[in-house]
Amino acid sequence: MNTPAPAEAIGVTVAHVSKRFTHAVKGEVHAARDVSLDVAPGEFLTLLGPSGCGKTTTLRMIAGFEMPDEGSIAFGGHDVTRLPANQRGIGFVFQNYALFPHLSVFDNVAYGLAVRGESGSEIGRAVGDVLALVGLAGYERQFPAQMSGGEQQRVALARAIVIHPRVLLFDEPLSNLDARLRVQMRDEIRALQKRLAITAIYVTHDQEEAMAVSDRIAVMNRGSIAEIGTAETLYHSPRSRFVAEFIGRANLVAAQVIAVRDGYVDVAALDRQLAIPRQGSALAAGTRCLLLLRPEAIVLGEPDATSGTLAGTVRTRTFLGEKIEYTIACAGVTLQVVRHSQGVTDAFAPGAAVGVQIARGAGTLVADASQGDSP
Ligand SMILES: Nc1ncnc2c1ncn2[C@@H]1O[C@H](COP(=O)(O)OP(=O)(O)O)[C@@H](O)[C@H]1O
Ligand SMILES: [Mg+2]
Repeated sequence: MNTPAPAEAIGVTVAHVSKRFTHAVKGEVHAARDVSLDVAPGEFLTLLGPSGCGKTTTLRMIAGFEMPDEGSIAFGGHDVTRLPANQRGIGFVFQNYALFPHLSVFDNVAYGLAVRGESGSEIGRAVGDVLALVGLAGYERQFPAQMSGGEQQRVALARAIVIHPRVLLFDEPLSNLDARLRVQMRDEIRALQKRLAITAIYVTHDQEEAMAVSDRIAVMNRGSIAEIGTAETLYHSPRSRFVAEFIGRANLVAAQVIAVRDGYVDVAALDRQLAIPRQGSALAAGTRCLLLLRPEAIVLGEPDATSGTLAGTVRTRTFLGEKIEYTIACAGVTLQVVRHSQGVTDAFAPGAAVGVQIARGAGTLVADASQGDSP
């Protein structure tokens, strides 16, 4: 089988793009506000954010289905802002597959090639190759209604890549599939994108899906990009409360900077003085901020009044197989804590007194927007 030869991958630049709509119910909506993105050639970038934050609008402007009010979009350094979608060299995968129900799988996938006027034998070869690539060899004569959701989405993927797009765009492609299939398909999409080396921009509201597929994630909030980074950076060192809470689970506790040292910041938090690794610009002593502690960074043990261990009380315990989730009352706040299961006797019961420690090197200081200061 021939893999479609990867064309030279191109970068996508979105510069200061804005889009407003007049919405029948909401009035004027600023769907995208001054959005800027630099997607590297061959990169897999995801737009992640809650429903209504402007992901689809941004993606549709990149596709050419929607014109920006302001700003510009370039593919491989060439301005495409006013270029119609069918001249941009994009493949687009929709949430609802958008297959032609009256056409066979073969004709659905062949459609874009037939429109281009390619010859029958070329089309036959290309469709066969691309169906094999998405795991649907032999499905040529099936019709969409005879196929499962996962199979239909594979047809949609085949249709998007058969035209050798320069940029592959996905809008919530897995949202209609069940949980197990979502995990399988996201791995396949990721592997295929790397194999074809096509620049990809992917939209999802699901943070786990975004982390699993992306080279980088752009988190969107109310039409703007809140932060862009790798999953690891956004999880461990978010710069805003919004991103800290949107990616993963977050304990955010009030903190105040005591002193800034080499590599560490001493803060007052949880009725203690804690040394938190220093990131980015220094914080002035006295600054009020939030200390982000991920649930796995909090270590539970036996109560120990002598060692500086915090005293806590187990509120709830949820056994989830490979892990156990706790909520712990500690220093006037409720902490979410997660532990790997180690056996049937490994459990702190609700009501039990526990010792609470922060794992060495854990914790990130995040600006508290309500305070006006920022780290
Ligand atoms: N064609 C449209 N007409 C009016 N309002 C729209 C239109 N498309 C999107 N919007 C509004 O723009 C905002 C962003 O929508 P969208 O980009 O679809 O968000 P997301 O994909 O992140 O859920 C929403 O408030 C939505 O109602
Ligand atoms: Mg959307």
